[in-house]
Amino acid sequence: MKVCIIGCGFVGLATGVTIAHLGHRVRLIEKDDLKLASIEKGQAPFNEPDISSMLSKGLRNRRISASNDVIEAVKASSFIFIAVQTPPMKSGSPNLTFIKESAKEIGEGLSKGKIVIGKSTVLPGTTETVVAPILENVSGLRAGKDFGIAMNPEFLAEGTAMNDSLNPSRIVVGSTNRKTATEVMKLYEKIDAPKILTDIRTAEMIKYASNCFLATKISYTNEIANLCERFEVDIAEVIYAVGLDPRIGGQFLRAGLGFGGSCLPKDLSALISSAESIGYKPELLRAVRKINEKQPIRAVEMLEEELGDLRGKRIAILGLAFKASVDDIRDSKAFPIVVELLARGANVIGFDPLATAFFIQILPEISYASSAREALKGADGCIIQTEEKQFSKLGKEDFDLMNTKLVIDGRRIFSSAKLARFGVKYRAIGLGKRT
Ligand code: UGA
Repeated sequence: MKVCIIGCGFVGLATGVTIAHLGHRVRLIEKDDLKLASIEKGQAPFNEPDISSMLSKGLRNRRISASNDVIEAVKASSFIFIAVQTPPMKSGSPNLTFIKESAKEIGEGLSKGKIVIGKSTVLPGTTETVVAPILENVSGLRAGKDFGIAMNPEFLAEGTAMNDSLNPSRIVVGSTNRKTATEVMKLYEKIDAPKILTDIRTAEMIKYASNCFLATKISYTNEIANLCERFEVDIAEVIYAVGLDPRIGGQFLRAGLGFGGSCLPKDLSALISSAESIGYKPELLRAVRKINEKQPIRAVEMLEEELGDLRGKRIAILGLAFKASVDDIRDSKAFPIVVELLARGANVIGFDPLATAFFIQILPEISYASSAREALKGADGCIIQTEEKQFSKLGKEDFDLMNTKLVIDGRRIFSSAKLARFGVKYRAIGLGKRT
């Protein structure tokens, strides 16, 4: 089948590469010249394992091609995926500018029998009330009658995008009619996963309900972690036992500095603001967000509990990205931590194996190290902000370089016993002092 993907961010590119891998012909559309040039060379324009090799393979065997011409690609394709970004506006609701622009261009190339599929995360109702009317107005055709319209939310996570995309926990396709949904599902017939056919609004809501539930699990764990500190027990032990209950499940129960990234915080805020706009008070979701906003500051409080006044103290932040193994700094918890440290008069030195170049553009006023070891040199304290493997391999000789051997483990990558052997004072989120 002939497919085109409008927008080559994480979701668009992973979807395109996956669909090509499943045997279809895919035209990738990217408007940014630099990103397009990189894609044409078989190089993903972001850091993500396996995606570039699969992209190169698809280009070589001609299942994948790339261009910036939406109209031409729509004319040549039976399935058109919209995978452009929906960045948050100040209110929290998603900015639909790119979706609307894409819909206009798609409308110009649209003809009878084609199917337009939303991949970008949009609030329930958006596809039917915003996207479909634009497509209809521009093309002069009727959605659900002349052309198909569907929503196929994506559940992949950065860092594991290809694996998630090839082995999804479920595939959801919503449409105004079952025939369209079934045709879209056929694209994925080689994938063995639960397949859910539903209506468009339900598909849109499934995406928000999933991400907000993941966010809720994390904030719940962080709340219990903060209580564990006060009750002098260890959240890691508690939550391991809790997660063994199959009704709860052990994943996404890692206590830490809160959730960042381009999805969980954005989708949570979007659902909150859309609930408020229709007169509903989303108390639980607001609490999930509030806990997440406060959580990173806990690391700074711990530093202060150990060091007293932070003025003039040199603090190393290991990990600047929103999670390990990615170069994405969007909504990274390193930002509120650095801002709080600077407000309390500390000198900050940051290190990240992949994300420094991006972080420096936003916060040029702090120092940066070229290795974790260098960041530790002369530091009065260190905050572990991501669970990078290389950080957990730091040894006694690295911590010996510190001025004050103090580690605040924001992601629980060390054991207190190990750091005690190195002579390091160890504090961690959710670890009561007695433990
Ligand atoms: C998230 C979801 O996990 C995906 O299912 C979804 O498709 C994606 O958003 C999206 O909407 O596109 P992602 O943002 O890439 O994926 O990253 P996650 O692995 O979910 O991590 C998000 C944040 O939660 C990170 O800051 C991570 O450190 C934090 N986290 C995660 C915790 O603090 N504790 C946990 O137990 C798990």
